[in-house]
Amino acid sequence: MRFQDKVAMVTGAGHGIGAAIAARLASEGAQVLVCDIDEARAREGAEKIGGQVCVIDVAQRGDVQRAVDDAVSRWSRLDILVCSAGVMDRESFLEASDAHWEKVSGINLRGTFLCGQIVARQMVAQGSGGRIVNVASNSGAFGGRGRAAYGASKAGVINLTQTMAIELAEHEILVNAVGPGPTLTRPEVQGELMASAQNRMPLKRYGTTEEIASVAAFLASDECSFTTGHVFYADGGFTIAGVMEG
Ligand SMILES: NC(=O)c1ccc[n+]([C@@H]2O[C@H](COP(=O)([O-])OP(=O)(O)OC[C@H]3O[C@@H](n4cnc5c(N)ncnc54)[C@H](O)[C@@H]3O)[C@@H](O)[C@H]2O)c1
Repeated sequence: MRFQDKVAMVTGAGHGIGAAIAARLASEGAQVLVCDIDEARAREGAEKIGGQVCVIDVAQRGDVQRAVDDAVSRWSRLDILVCSAGVMDRESFLEASDAHWEKVSGINLRGTFLCGQIVARQMVAQGSGGRIVNVASNSGAFGGRGRAAYGASKAGVINLTQTMAIELAEHEILVNAVGPGPTLTRPEVQGELMASAQNRMPLKRYGTTEEIASVAAFLASDECSFTTGHVFYADGGFTIAGVMEG
């Protein structure tokens, strides 16, 4: 019960990795605000874990402020933020449109900035520290076909995590990122794409959302007390792999 008496806001908590992280925090005692742009998903996710729903678009400052106000009016505080809301849309570099770039970077990078800034202001006002966990990706560490906007947004999240860690350290707010590798969140990922990723991963398989949630939960906990500004890859070794045969 590492999160007894803690209040957590989790974005993208209606599905996939965010839902698994929200479930993990709730199962260990946290009060969780389940934030998602998709109301049906948010309601379903919240119902499963006994959380509260807040429908927001993380790319809109007013929405994010409303979520923070909601958490504070319910529980009088906010101790943990997990930013998992994201889109993984792919377009080739030569054909990518401005709209694609704006959408992906707006949600993945600006959304992470907005949530982090607004929640951190609340944590600073409370004066009792906090934990922020951003969900990056191994696509932020290396290039990938169709991932110009996505990879750049996640590289941005990694760098933002470092700067937030530096500026928030004096307030005892520790900021880290979990970097998932290929994770089973959607059934349509199979065939060539799946094989291509798995062949480059020492563990030779996709991760589960629970495996990502385990790492995120550590980073969100008080056990994580001397680690800030880092990315923890939960990726089956994808990011460190070089030559794999011979
Ligand atoms: N699944 C993977 O293989 C993988 C790998 C690396 C990183 N990631 C990252 O993990 C995070 C979660 O991915 P996932 O696979 O669980 O995705 P998912 O699509 O299963 O879930 C994402 C959730 O975010 C919500 N969302 C999307 N845009 C939003 C917005 N503007 N405001 C609020 N909520 C919004 C969606 O409605 C959805 O419920 C993303 O940031 C993604 O980039 C995923």
